[in-house]
Amino acid sequence: MAILGSGTGSTARALIEGGLRKGSTYRVELVISTSAVAGINAVASDNAVTLRVLDQSFTTSAWATQLTDALVARKIDIVALAGFMRLLPESVIHAVHGHILNIHPALLPKHGGKGMYGRRVHEAVMQAGDKVTGATVHLVNAQYDDGRILGQTHVEVQDGESVLDLESRVKAAEKILYPDVLETYAANLSFDVENWRSHKRNF
Ligand code: GRF
Repeated sequence: MAILGSGTGSTARALIEGGLRKGSTYRVELVISTSAVAGINAVASDNAVTLRVLDQSFTTSAWATQLTDALVARKIDIVALAGFMRLLPESVIHAVHGHILNIHPALLPKHGGKGMYGRRVHEAVMQAGDKVTGATVHLVNAQYDDGRILGQTHVEVQDGESVLDLESRVKAAEKILYPDVLETYAANLSFDVENWRSHKRNF
């Protein structure tokens, strides 16, 4: 599995550690950072995971080609986004057969879409007066926060809490949900591949 993004690295750390749990069905082999100065870069080095920095200063298509080449070269099956803010080109999604996951800090389809990231999401939750929020792991397609939902976790909004408090409680919940959903996703994926292989052998 590869992680792609430019976050502080706390999500990447949770995913790397999740992949090292006994009996885990996935392992993080590569971190692709879109910034030379992101916290995620240090997390990769600290955990001895290969780091590639592909900043987005070149054209989207040149960037997509470099990214795709890096994924194919490492035989990556699954990509997990961690603080990746843009839309992914379709060529990248196809390169890993659509096996790209993202986590969004709200209960999609609520409070998602272009421009809805980070603290803004929690502000929107509070402004809407929602009593419950949470996080969603979903497949990535060519729209923002739109792919099939794979898992959600719920977090109650407490009376009088600040946006910062809510954000930090949702972040803590994300770190349990994301590795757990990846476990199941990777397990199902290897089951499918094995099935396909034995199917091929039988004909
Ligand atoms: C996550 O909290 C997730 O909600 C969003 O990006 C954030 C990245 O986390 N998609 P971090 O900066 O690595 O902590």
